[in-house]
Amino acid sequence: MSIDYSEKIPNNVDLAGDRKLQRALESWQPNFLNWWKTMGPAVPTQDVYLRTAVDVGKEGWAQFGHVAMEEYRWGVFLAERGDDRRIAFGEQKGEPAWQQVPGEYRADLQRLIVIQGDTEPASVEQQRRLGETAPSLYDLRNLFQVNVEEGRHLWAMVYLLHAYFGRNGREEAEALLHRNSGDLDSPRILGAFNEETPDWLSFFMFTYFTDRDGKYQLGTLKESAFDPLSRTCEFMLKEEAHHMFVGTTGVDRVVARTAELMREHDTEDIAPHGGVPLDVIQKYINFHYSVSLDLFGSEKSTNAANYFTAGLKGRWQEERRRDDHVLTDDAASVDVVRDGVLTTDEVPALLALNHDLRNEYVKDCHSGLKRWNRVLEKAGVDRTLTLPHVGFNRHVGLFADHHITPAGELVGADAWEAKKDRWLPSEADKTHVRSLMRPVYEPGKIAGWIAPPTNGINGQPFDYEYVHLA
Ligand SMILES: [Fe+2]
Ligand SMILES: [Fe+2]
Repeated sequence: MSIDYSEKIPNNVDLAGDRKLQRALESWQPNFLNWWKTMGPAVPTQDVYLRTAVDVGKEGWAQFGHVAMEEYRWGVFLAERGDDRRIAFGEQKGEPAWQQVPGEYRADLQRLIVIQGDTEPASVEQQRRLGETAPSLYDLRNLFQVNVEEGRHLWAMVYLLHAYFGRNGREEAEALLHRNSGDLDSPRILGAFNEETPDWLSFFMFTYFTDRDGKYQLGTLKESAFDPLSRTCEFMLKEEAHHMFVGTTGVDRVVARTAELMREHDTEDIAPHGGVPLDVIQKYINFHYSVSLDLFGSEKSTNAANYFTAGLKGRWQEERRRDDHVLTDDAASVDVVRDGVLTTDEVPALLALNHDLRNEYVKDCHSGLKRWNRVLEKAGVDRTLTLPHVGFNRHVGLFADHHITPAGELVGADAWEAKKDRWLPSEADKTHVRSLMRPVYEPGKIAGWIAPPTNGINGQPFDYEYVHLA
């Protein structure tokens, strides 16, 4: 079904065929728009060159054009699938997927949807002021693209809450607009989504590391036996790929410019020359990677085991795994700290599912590091960037009560305090990065701390007028 844009809420879920649901979502819509106006992008614009979803098919699902942002068509789009989908894992493996929510899993499914839904508007709030210091119009456009799509992901979760969870669901949908990132009284649910995104280096790190966590969480929900959730997440993953592209290439370009300045001035200390020193980039990696690892939850988790057994949440690429997809007889090893030593424990595989997902994520993160090191190598800089140890700077899970260095060494609190500014962005580092953040709004121009992109968006040149400011 192709999407009808004359409708108030564009959708491919036949909203017109369910008047009650349509009315409920139409009454949520003004509250969403109000939230967008007060908590969304702070820089006033006339229009932005944005991608809008127009279909969910394999080819040509999006269209590009200049759009006034408050008129962006946030809609409800589910990936299309046959009616005969079967549950791929857990104790109901092989049975038909659910088109409705089974009563016994109602509370758990609602909770999973609310947690995912809460992260989407949170990142828009975190990035609200970034437009004021965009390094180019191209980057400004990418920020806004990510923002409108996170807004659409909120719509995706709100649709599920309204359509399948009755009054409770509608209340949760309201609450998603009332919690706010960093709010002392009603913060967002997960820690990483209450951190500030105060500068563009943080934004690129966030879209590389934290949006990538989102990819893995959506990947587990895409496996869900609850078919509408599965189909929603499948389509969200399509949009998510661009967010990670923004992060990956954003860091590429900072590293490239840093290397260029290092060569040009023959020094590592490029701060006086208007660049981000390589060791500051390393500290930002350390911070954003460790905060994102916390989003995977405890390495050993009975909740994760129960969700899997019930069919609510699968593993990353569940169907490609070569095991029984039930896992009751399997074991897995997880990291632990025992008697002051880092070691591993053998546990039932079902308990180690968060750890399993985290491992997949870590593997994926290495690909970015490889890229960035290739940029350094090509520029003739004899240094490398690395991922810190998984136990470094953790506040959730088995490592939370320990101090572990980026190299994976267990240290005491004193040693941690003494050295932490060498491993994580110090106040001086953050002040320097912030001092570089000055807006460049002229088409084709770019700030001095970052290299221009190699390609524009949708075949447009870099000097295209991606954004018309108001
Ligand atoms: Fe998202
Ligand atoms: Fe995203």
